[in-house]
Amino acid sequence: MVTQEEVFKKVTAHAKEFGFVFQSSEIYDGLSAVYDYGQNGSALKKNIKDYWWNSMVRMNENILGIDAAIFMHPTTWKASGHVDAFNDPLVDNKDSKKRYRADVLVEEYIANKLESKIEKEIKKASKRFGDSFNETQFKSTNPRVLGYQEKIQQVESRLKEVQENEDMAGFKQLIEDLDIACPISGSKNWTDVRQFNLMFSTEVGSTSEGANTVFLRPETAQGIFVNYLNVQKTGGMKIPFGIAQIGKAFRNEIVARQFIFRMREFEQMEMQFFVRPGEQEKWYDYWKELRMKWHMAIGFPEGHHKFHNHLKLAHYADAAADIEFKFPFGFKELEGIHSRTDFDLKNHEKYSKKKLRYFDPEINESYIPYVVETSIGLDRMFLAILSTAYTEERLEDGTERVVLKLPPFLAPYKVAVLPLINKDGLPEKANEIVKDLKFDFECIYDEKNKIGKRYRKQDAIGTPFCITVDHQTLEDDTVTLRERDSMNQKRIEIQNLLKILSESVSMKSVLKKLC
Ligand code: GAP
Repeated sequence: MVTQEEVFKKVTAHAKEFGFVFQSSEIYDGLSAVYDYGQNGSALKKNIKDYWWNSMVRMNENILGIDAAIFMHPTTWKASGHVDAFNDPLVDNKDSKKRYRADVLVEEYIANKLESKIEKEIKKASKRFGDSFNETQFKSTNPRVLGYQEKIQQVESRLKEVQENEDMAGFKQLIEDLDIACPISGSKNWTDVRQFNLMFSTEVGSTSEGANTVFLRPETAQGIFVNYLNVQKTGGMKIPFGIAQIGKAFRNEIVARQFIFRMREFEQMEMQFFVRPGEQEKWYDYWKELRMKWHMAIGFPEGHHKFHNHLKLAHYADAAADIEFKFPFGFKELEGIHSRTDFDLKNHEKYSKKKLRYFDPEINESYIPYVVETSIGLDRMFLAILSTAYTEERLEDGTERVVLKLPPFLAPYKVAVLPLINKDGLPEKANEIVKDLKFDFECIYDEKNKIGKRYRKQDAIGTPFCITVDHQTLEDDTVTLRERDSMNQKRIEIQNLLKILSESVSMKSVLKKLC
């Protein structure tokens, strides 16, 4: 059986081989946790952005889109709390000189020393008992498994305690008590655990004396908060209304793993919804439901998404939930929905000394609105789509194919036009079809290699349809239309292509599910 880890490795390799994602500055051995999107990756990414933007901005009269700068006045980050509280607990091993996130060391201890032992016990017992093995019953009665489970609970509760109390000495004690060794040096010679701010900084200004330290934004949200009155006034908006934005964010992540899941430079798609104080709970529930609907409308199989409601809330939130996605390495956060209260706007008012109140004509009152935020990582969404679409199939003739079963409206190309052979006027006819269709769809023309090989190539990049032009085409203006997933081929009149393709690859039907 292929493990999920192997699947993930294959997805990563496929992303590189077919022009989706490359390691940044690869010729210099890359830069950790930074990636470039290739020709197919950037097209897929753009389509995901369009889906999000259309569903937010185009479909909602009361949501407007903006594009704020990455650099902001440094006080922004003091007001938002990022200067003081956007930290990870880090610890160094004195022998290997390697730096680790203390919480990740503990989580890896749980996974490698406790959870994996439970898995081993289950495997052993399932071999022993064969078909009569009942895993649930085994897990709730086997003394060794129960012992490991108890230990997991103990460690998790200590981890939660030191995290909640920001108790760095307690963190170090936990690492020592668990006897955790550095994976590189094998030694347990640890420094103290200390908080490390995740924001990147740089200088603006031409001279070192006159220079000002500025931060690369760690979230796009603050560009929306500081502009909310500008947009409200110039857009004539009445509460409730939203502001949406897609843009880069930067975090100096120390644990750079899992490909594009955790990056130092990534993109967020965020929407801040401004509501009357006291109405935040209603809107929080509304956006939770609608965001899940957005994910489901893509057409992924059931069971890939779940909510994780936060029990421990950030200082600015009165409710928060993640939409978790089943990545090849397990269920992980894909999107956050946060009821952020009036924390950000209140602090911006305090630090800027500018009034950030909204006058509500319906109740004749001025107030600082409350905010419900939806925040999704574009790169994580990309990974969710890519890893779910990646499929290996054994065909009836015994051969294998790799096919990206991308939702058609997201595929980099909607249609490939292929002359059966590279002569007899077939390339010219195929190019005529491309010229016609390219106004409506992303098209690709390919005349290299045998037709079967060309189909495989399009399968591998997720092109939902291939049009083959053959000698019959020259006689009766018909082509073969091959569908990616079923591989079925139909003879179609060229004049009907536009209608057939439009019905199958357009975003419209997906957006309609959300309205
Ligand atoms: N404005 C709220 C905010 O930034 P967050 O939970 O820190 O909240 C929101 O981030 C989303 O951004 C996450 O759900 C995730 O999809 C994405 N994200 C966060 N850090 C990331 C990273 N280092 N690499 C890729 N995506 C990331």
